[in-house]
Amino acid sequence: MAVRDIVKDGEPLLRKKSRPVDKFDGKLHALLDDMLETMRAADGVGIAAPQVGILRQAVICELETENEEETEILEMINPVILKSSGKQVGQEGCLSVPGKRCPVLRPKSVTVRYQDRFGNEITRVLEGFNAVVASHEIDHLSGILFYDKAVKEENGDGRK
Ligand code: CO
Repeated sequence: MAVRDIVKDGEPLLRKKSRPVDKFDGKLHALLDDMLETMRAADGVGIAAPQVGILRQAVICELETENEEETEILEMINPVILKSSGKQVGQEGCLSVPGKRCPVLRPKSVTVRYQDRFGNEITRVLEGFNAVVASHEIDHLSGILFYDKAVKEENGDGRK
């Protein structure tokens, strides 16, 4: 495993669309392992492949679990949000946008379909904080950054 360089806001690559992953091979596994190490080294809770310069649909989210002291590392390949419901507004930041934080409108709950690193298809519901992290990371695959969705904290209804 290796820590890779994080692509920073301003580099055009971050605004491009990622292509689907079609080979679930050692190269993908090495990418995912490096993404995790890079995320940990930068003290983040999520990372998307374009953030390490790879325009492929792969993300990692560090999820909250029912046990406050434990987190779960979720790898999602080719993720699609099938359904989202509710609204929440919270402060977000991003490893590619150092020093910037702002309130963002997100769904309270998302149903995501994705593949694991071996290509197995999985559908899962993520709620609260976990829905925020998943939405934020999946947005990276479309070239969307969190501040594109910035809202005023007071109303949280999508108005700037
Ligand atoms: Co980000």
